[in-house]
Amino acid sequence: MTRPTDKWSAPSSGERYAATRFASRRAAERDPRLVAALLARHGVRGRVLDVPCGTARLHDVLRPHAGALVGADLSEAMLASAARSSPARFVRAEVAHLPFHARSFDVVVCCRFLHHLHDESELAAALAELLRVSDRLVIASIWDSASWPALRVRLGLKRAEGPRGRRAVERATVERLVARAGARVVEWRYSFRWLSQQAFFVAERC
Ligand SMILES: C[S@@+](CC[C@H](N)C(=O)[O-])C[C@H]1O[C@@H](n2cnc3c(N)ncnc32)[C@H](O)[C@@H]1O
Repeated sequence: MTRPTDKWSAPSSGERYAATRFASRRAAERDPRLVAALLARHGVRGRVLDVPCGTARLHDVLRPHAGALVGADLSEAMLASAARSSPARFVRAEVAHLPFHARSFDVVVCCRFLHHLHDESELAAALAELLRVSDRLVIASIWDSASWPALRVRLGLKRAEGPRGRRAVERATVERLVARAGARVVEWRYSFRWLSQQAFFVAERC
């Protein structure tokens, strides 16, 4: 399973992630806006788990839907940064082994993590674990292989990130693995269909 690299475990990781990755307001607002729309559309209210929570940058949009909000991440540095900006409860945990009973949350949110997993068995294990602790929905993002950036990699026009780099996946693969874990994908959402790799899906337990 993916381990936080130096990128996420160094003491200043949280501040660096917030300052560099989402420096522009447009970039910073993109994921929260999309997640907010999905939460509203699916009438989410109740216990919410954000994993991995990173710096808790989604918490402003999660809080209005959450009776109880928990953030989990493997990196102490990211958790420390998250705790400075959000009143949620925080837990240090690995996505593949979440320290929660089955169906502990109404919705589990997993943003910008699954594209770090390198083979199908890792992706299957992560999806199964996210669904195990959810009583209803999982809202997660992947990198969609049916996108212009992923096509450029396949055509050799853009350099792939290497064996430990991020990777795109087919929607059909996600749907098959979600079904194997006893749920179904009920929606796909994009900020920029085709142009951006980032895609969100909503999985609902059957
Ligand atoms: C790209 S950040 C995304 C954080 C947050 N979801 C967001 O959208 O801002 C990836 C996060 O995954 C965490 N992480 C990496 N491997 C993990 C694992 N196996 N289990 C839990 N967290 C992990 C890192 O510490 C980091 O905070």
